[in-house]
Amino acid sequence: MSAKAHSLRLFLSEIARAPRRMGTVWPSSPALAEAMARWLPTSATAPVVELGPGTGIVTEKLLEAGWPEERLIAVEKSERMAGYLQHRFPRARIHQGDALQLARLLGDQKVAGVFSSLPLKVFTPQEAEQLTRQIESVLLPGHNWIQYSYQIVNGHAPSSSFHAVDSEIVWQNLPPAKVSVYRRGNQQSQGS
Ligand SMILES: C[S@@+](CC[C@H](N)C(=O)[O-])C[C@H]1O[C@@H](n2cnc3c(N)ncnc32)[C@H](O)[C@@H]1O
Repeated sequence: MSAKAHSLRLFLSEIARAPRRMGTVWPSSPALAEAMARWLPTSATAPVVELGPGTGIVTEKLLEAGWPEERLIAVEKSERMAGYLQHRFPRARIHQGDALQLARLLGDQKVAGVFSSLPLKVFTPQEAEQLTRQIESVLLPGHNWIQYSYQIVNGHAPSSSFHAVDSEIVWQNLPPAKVSVYRRGNQQSQGS
């Protein structure tokens, strides 16, 4: 079986096992992953973190765009997909765990970007709020949280610590998706 077919089979079997956690019916398209990767920081020494990488389509586009694998951290809840990703991207730091525990997983590490494919539509309001606070505590001031969703109308900045700086609808995806970019303000976080 080709690497692509193996990756798709793993993705689809995770949807069958945990449809709510996956929150989708198909992996993101290359067009969607590229739209996210356009927001890589241009001059940063800190790593970036990817949340919910699945089998790695966004990861792949981040690296193709020139981001060094050693400076990529990913947090994936599925044990099987985390193992697959670590094999596929051996120099990246893959954490198998819950993005709602992001600050604990990262220790003291701060990041220069958050690339999230997490299915926020299945998060409770409390979980969404917890995620926002976790991201706020690890993201360096002035840097971006890039989030896609299938809700292509409306949407608003997740908290007063972030402001929306851009959004783009990617029609070449099943279903069409919106990439939203939120920038963390320059005030230091008061903690998570
Ligand atoms: C919509 S899929 C996106 C997969 C891939 N990035 C893509 O774009 O095709 C959502 C991913 O988030 C993961 N996930 C869901 N909840 C999570 C959580 N709380 N912490 C970490 N990963 C989570 C799922 O296991 C799944 O891999």
